[in-house]
Amino acid sequence: MHKTDFLIIGSGLAGLSFAVKAATRFPEKKITIVTKSIVSESNTRYAQGGIAVVMDFLNDNFEKHKEDTLKAGDGLCSKATVDLVVEEGPARLQEIIDLGTEFDRDADGNYHLGMEGAHSARRILHYKDVTGFKIQSTLLEKARSFDNVEILEYRFAVDLITQHHLGVEVTKKSTDIKCFGAYVMDLKTHKIETYIAKTTVLASGGIGQTYKITTNPEVATGDGIAMAYRAKAAMEHMQFVQFHPTALYGHAGDTAFLISEAVRGFGAVLKTKEGKSFMEKYDERGSLASRDIVARAIDTEMKARGEECTYLDCRHLDIEEFKKHFPNIYQKCLESGVDVAKDMIPVAPAAHYLCGGVKTDAHGNTNIENLYCCGEVACTGLHGANRLASNSLL
Ligand code: SIN
Repeated sequence: MHKTDFLIIGSGLAGLSFAVKAATRFPEKKITIVTKSIVSESNTRYAQGGIAVVMDFLNDNFEKHKEDTLKAGDGLCSKATVDLVVEEGPARLQEIIDLGTEFDRDADGNYHLGMEGAHSARRILHYKDVTGFKIQSTLLEKARSFDNVEILEYRFAVDLITQHHLGVEVTKKSTDIKCFGAYVMDLKTHKIETYIAKTTVLASGGIGQTYKITTNPEVATGDGIAMAYRAKAAMEHMQFVQFHPTALYGHAGDTAFLISEAVRGFGAVLKTKEGKSFMEKYDERGSLASRDIVARAIDTEMKARGEECTYLDCRHLDIEEFKKHFPNIYQKCLESGVDVAKDMIPVAPAAHYLCGGVKTDAHGNTNIENLYCCGEVACTGLHGANRLASNSLL
């Protein structure tokens, strides 16, 4: 049996940022992170586009970002959570900049702000097309620098411990459920270990791998959601699974490779095989409509035409600039036999993000005492029925 003050399940941006904050604030407390693969493997690592934050107060403001978020969420966001997250954005961003995260800048030294679907202003900070990897590396280095943070890899959380495990009946109607930690399997020894914690933080990410085609890595299998459900945590909006409109079609491997929405923000246009743009039929914002609308439009086109993909046309763009902004995407396309200067990129929707999850308030409190959730596993009300692009890292 292991004892800790904070048990964090998951090592993406949500888990690591909680660990860094807790370690800073409570140097005398023990913080344990369990993660089922290597510590750097998570959805955060693959986030390409960036982080949406109001920075350019001449052309943008909090009200615009809030409105975009609420509209994309299709009437199901919590206004209070949206207000809190958008307004705290600049300060929280500054924290990760202070830890050493770099973001791309323009020729004048200002942050380069990208555009993505359903945003009414340029507000996406990014580091080329590997923003999540950059942020995660910085946070991981910081987390590792604390003596009171222990990171345990290849530890698969099996079940949250509540009074149910002490023989007390717990049902969905129970009002006094308490979390005492978790049972965790050491994947190297296959032994189940007991972690007793004063506070348990579930930051275990989403469920992408429950779908055949997903942008999510192998670890995104929804175990956190399942554990919380078994422990009788309240769940919300589980029906809202976001499909990213543009995963590279035909890319070999378990995970579909994402063609970031930032590519459409850079000017790429969705087209049919014959090179005819079609998004105007569905929304006046064209290829930059919100993700749910674009994914449904692509699906409709594919079904109507009996085809397995549509195309993203970048051929009219400045390809040297494209390579600077999207080196990873450019390279992956080349490896798949697509030269973006000459060929349209074949794309199709893929399961991408769980908008619902364990129901929390804006501070991650669940209905279970001592159990908190953050990141994709949590349904805080920020995303409603459809998350606005790049609001997840925020
Ligand atoms: C993307 O780069 O298109 C993904 C970013 C996100 O899911 O918000």
